[in-house]
Amino acid sequence: VGETDMRKINVLNYPVFLGDSSWNEFDVFLEPSLSSGQVFILTDFNTRELCLPVLTKHIPRLADRPVFSILPGEDSKDISTLEEVWHWLMDSGAIKSSLIVNLGGGVVSDLGGFAAATFKRGMNYVNLPTSMIGQVDASIGGKTGINISHVKNQAGVFYDPLAVFIIPEFLKSLPGEHLRSGMAEIIKSAILAGGNAWEMLKKHVLSGSDHFNDLICETVNFKCRVVADDPYDLSSRQILNFGHTIGHGLESFFNRHHHVPWLHGEAVAAGMICEAFLSHEMIGLQEKELNEIAGIIKSFFSLKPLDRKSYGEVWNLMDLDKKRTVDGLTFSLIKETGMPVTGISSDRKDIYRSFDHYNMMIQK
Ligand SMILES: NC(=O)c1ccc[n+]([C@@H]2O[C@H](COP(=O)([O-])OP(=O)(O)OC[C@H]3O[C@@H](n4cnc5c(N)ncnc54)[C@H](O)[C@@H]3O)[C@@H](O)[C@H]2O)c1
Repeated sequence: VGETDMRKINVLNYPVFLGDSSWNEFDVFLEPSLSSGQVFILTDFNTRELCLPVLTKHIPRLADRPVFSILPGEDSKDISTLEEVWHWLMDSGAIKSSLIVNLGGGVVSDLGGFAAATFKRGMNYVNLPTSMIGQVDASIGGKTGINISHVKNQAGVFYDPLAVFIIPEFLKSLPGEHLRSGMAEIIKSAILAGGNAWEMLKKHVLSGSDHFNDLICETVNFKCRVVADDPYDLSSRQILNFGHTIGHGLESFFNRHHHVPWLHGEAVAAGMICEAFLSHEMIGLQEKELNEIAGIIKSFFSLKPLDRKSYGEVWNLMDLDKKRTVDGLTFSLIKETGMPVTGISSDRKDIYRSFDHYNMMIQK
């Protein structure tokens, strides 16, 4: 997506605009709410400082609208911050037809979407994602919610935004580690989509390019198609869990035990190496692709080893809400790139072997 190139994806119940030149569309979209004075902007403190000026530079009339900012980070995705947002909306005179503009990463869009879904039994919102994870994943698909006692996404609803505007210009101020964290979702999407998307990613790695717009565009299109086929995550959307079942276990484990916790993307990257191994063992993913996947992941992430003594604890932390059998878990795996398969059971022994494989691969 270049400066002048703008796309509109129309496969969902709401439009997804993509490209640095979507500003005009955003301006037009805002017009009715702006002229009735009914726009409310939610940010975190980082995006207030770094992204709000970009927004008001393009749409100066937003400069005098009420802004509420939450503390940056996952801890803000909780009930007390949600309550603060509700109070802010109430105190600033928001009504059912008001519009919340979620200007931030996945935390702002998950929390702001949930606030919109619940305030006055549902008001309007629009996502203006500013992080890589926000742009390629969290802003699309209508999943909103909060954590309960740090357990992720325990309360929430599906509630669609009126529109999503993905504007890569915002990424200019995003710290490198958060840009990298979003790469895990881009890699996952390319593995699941296969074909052109997978080739494009491999070329990107070979060229060492730091231009991400084409990859963002490919990933957003893929997410939109998957969500359109199964908006409520009842069947085919579950392919998107690839890497996440083990990834969530690793994320919780490292959050618990290390001073510098793993970013979501790092955990998903490690989870994908493990789950590619399960794919090889259970449904015949070829060794060549197994190694290629690990190679691509390692070109973006330097991953930490997992101590054998910790395997049991990671197992216990793995997606407790997913369908868990007595001694096994259900996975979304890949038969080859571009050929995802859902509902594959693996037992604890297989999963421990996937950790062994992971430790071996990251040291290679
Ligand atoms: N709803 C969904 O479908 C979905 C999908 C994936 C992830 N998520 C959720 O998204 C969250 C993770 O998203 P995230 O990584 O965006 O987290 P985040 O919102 O915490 O953003 C990461 C960090 O980047 C900062 N930031 C964001 N944009 C910036 C910019 N342009 N310039 C400078 N700093 C910027 C934020 O302040 C924060 O410190 C998790 O809570 C996850 O559960 C939701």
